[in-house]
Amino acid sequence: MKNDLKSKKSNFFFDKLSLVLNEKKYWEFIRDLRNSPAVKKGFISQEYIPADQHENYMRSYGKKYYICLFENFPIGYVGTINNDIRVAVLPEYQGRGVGEFMINNVMSLHPSSFAKVKIKNEASIRLFEKCGFKKQYYILEKEKASS
Ligand SMILES: CC(C)(COP(=O)(O)OP(=O)(O)OC[C@H]1O[C@@H](n2cnc3c(N)ncnc32)[C@H](O)[C@@H]1OP(=O)(O)O)[C@@H](O)C(=O)NCCC(=O)NCCS
Repeated sequence: MKNDLKSKKSNFFFDKLSLVLNEKKYWEFIRDLRNSPAVKKGFISQEYIPADQHENYMRSYGKKYYICLFENFPIGYVGTINNDIRVAVLPEYQGRGVGEFMINNVMSLHPSSFAKVKIKNEASIRLFEKCGFKKQYYILEKEKASS
């Protein structure tokens, strides 16, 4: 997977990126990142994910996730469950092409995948559009007092 991106972008940073299959040792990394306020606000569900719930979830779906490593250090994850993509990058590594790296790689493995994105999540919309996705649907809800 690493070589796919190398052919597009080759520099010091991208040469050290790789996408690997999720393993149990990364489960807590995924949970921490997903629960962190800066990342959580990008997702549709704002619920805190407790450890036991996450462990059950990972037992069922963990194999559908991939981890982006910078050298050997996890900096992001991407998963596709029933073709529905979820993606997150550590805030200090955002805006450097890591999301694009993960989405392009995951699409080569799961080409029918799609993303459900909040209208206000400009970073995510931009990321998916950069990767060739087009807006296709709206989901309309009654506005909640908190949103
Ligand atoms: C969405 C997210 C995964 C993007 O990852 P990333 O590594 O920062 O994205 P990239 O660096 O690959 O950027 C891809 C494109 O999006 C743009 N982009 C990234 N962050 C942006 C922001 N905050 N505002 C506007 N555009 C942004 C980049 O500029 C780039 O486009 P460009 O090359 O034309 O400039 C990351 O912001 C994140 O983890 N957000 C919190 C979790 C989340 O919202 N997940 C998605 C749920 S659907």
